[in-house]
Amino acid sequence: MTVTVRDLRKWKTEGTKFTMLTAYDYTTAKWLERAGIPVLLVGDSLGMTMLGYPDTLSVSMDDMIRHASAVVRGAPNALVIGDMPFMAYHASAEDAIRNAGRFMQEARVHAVKMEGGGRVIDYARQLTSMGIPVMGHLGLTPQFVNQFGGWRVQGRSEEAAERILEDATALEEAGAFSIVLEGMPSTLGRRVTDAVGIPTIGIGAGAGCDAQVLVIQDVMGLNPDHVAKFVRQYGRLGESLEAAARQFDQDVRSGAFPTAEHEYAAR
Ligand code: KIV
Repeated sequence: MTVTVRDLRKWKTEGTKFTMLTAYDYTTAKWLERAGIPVLLVGDSLGMTMLGYPDTLSVSMDDMIRHASAVVRGAPNALVIGDMPFMAYHASAEDAIRNAGRFMQEARVHAVKMEGGGRVIDYARQLTSMGIPVMGHLGLTPQFVNQFGGWRVQGRSEEAAERILEDATALEEAGAFSIVLEGMPSTLGRRVTDAVGIPTIGIGAGAGCDAQVLVIQDVMGLNPDHVAKFVRQYGRLGESLEAAARQFDQDVRSGAFPTAEHEYAAR
């Protein structure tokens, strides 16, 4: 059955925890849907994980739409969220509306995500009034990495925590259907979760959140050189991939592959 934003609200009310994973391509989306992951985020983290940039700032709407449409085709029953990239909604409400509209029409995602509070709260209000569900994102929002002076945990002082709490309640009031809480003390993750009626989805925000999200490369062990504190690796796909590629190379060099079973006969 197709997952909708209504399911997420119901799960919050029932106290049912759920998961979201990032996905950027058709094949991975297919496997994640088979695994029963209800929500897939086509994150602008694809700039780092798929395109090799040092941060998310170079990602364009065209990049996002190409990857998001592949994920939608791979996981027709999941709730697929398109992450609005840097500068897709920063200059004006018109940009936010046009780009969220592109995501819905061209990639067929079911909702969009935007980072930050402030003017984003007003954009969330406008988009939801047009039938475009919005997921908020507060705390260590990667598009602000230069403003933060690096990848730094946010909301550590009481004043900063209050600001995040205010943004979260304002996002809910503006119609957002859920909020990602990233890189903040677990006490704050729990405070925000208790303060809002919409689900919070944590990444480095502690166990008090209603749901958890991780980046697929981190979960699958495809990024073994840097494992952040909030990550648990559930697979070792990087090592399996390397071993399989080495074996293929060795087999071809030694003549062990291909053998008769892999060959076509003439008529
Ligand atoms: O882009 C992304 O992957 C994200 C998650 C880390 C929440 O925004």
